[in-house]
Amino acid sequence: MNAADSKIAGKVWIDGAVVDAALARVPVFDRGFLYGDSVYEVLRTFDGHPFALEEHLDRLEGSAARIEMSVPSRDEIRAAIDATCLAVGHPDLYIRIVVTRGAGEIGLDPALADAPRLILIVRPASLPSKEIYESGVKVAVVGRSRSIPGGPANTDPQVKSGNYLGSVLAVAEARRRGAYEAILGDAVGRITEGSSSNIFLVRGGRITTPPLSSGLLEGITRRTVIHLARKNSIAVDEQPLWPADLARADEAFLTSSVRGIVPIVRVDGIQIAGGRPGEVTRRVMSLYQQFASAR
Ligand code: PDD
Repeated sequence: MNAADSKIAGKVWIDGAVVDAALARVPVFDRGFLYGDSVYEVLRTFDGHPFALEEHLDRLEGSAARIEMSVPSRDEIRAAIDATCLAVGHPDLYIRIVVTRGAGEIGLDPALADAPRLILIVRPASLPSKEIYESGVKVAVVGRSRSIPGGPANTDPQVKSGNYLGSVLAVAEARRRGAYEAILGDAVGRITEGSSSNIFLVRGGRITTPPLSSGLLEGITRRTVIHLARKNSIAVDEQPLWPADLARADEAFLTSSVRGIVPIVRVDGIQIAGGRPGEVTRRVMSLYQQFASAR
């Protein structure tokens, strides 16, 4: 074990058993390692319960189907999650569900894989600081896309596969520009989503977010926010958006399962929402918080 390993808290489910996270190892012949030939989901617990687990399992199965891969049964995954969460014993957990196509002789042919390998990483959730929710973040619009609708599986926006290189490089660029999150674009430069989040704008009291046809992952938080806003008489439009729309927005925010809703107050050099989380954003944050804690 090296020095970095000893700092890895949490537990991992691998090959049918719970082990300390620092000791968990994936064989080098696993295709997840060799080719990114895997699918994954990330969720969190609220008060000890995995939040929106069935929706995440739906999406996991959908991603797997799109890459002609099978995943273990829901009962098997649920039982593994329960056992691993219990072993960590913390109310607020980060849960990463990974299914690789399995290991086998080197070669691209998926028939070389033995059997899908389920891996769970469960750790105390490291949530954004209070400061991030109260003061908002800066984003950078980067000239990269993760998604080519109708393109190969590793760029199909609806496949949450282990191949995230486009997003990795987008985050590197965002960090160089001092930003918290990278906003990706499509082939003609319209904004689609964050590197690991969805994006929303507020204009004249209405919420707008790019449509799925723009090429983005249908976030589970995105879907919930749309539902909660409409239920509470806040209009939501799904419309293509350009970087200039973001720069001119009254307010903007990001959504993802672990972070929830994060206000945006700066887009590259431009301040938006007067540099403070806006009124509609704060309303949506409070609706989401109520919804999550009531479930
Ligand atoms: N990412 N878009 C992309 C490209 C994502 O990777 C994610 C999630 C989202 C938001 O989806 P959801 O609301 O279902 O979390 C949008 C997870 C959090 C991750 O990779 O860690």
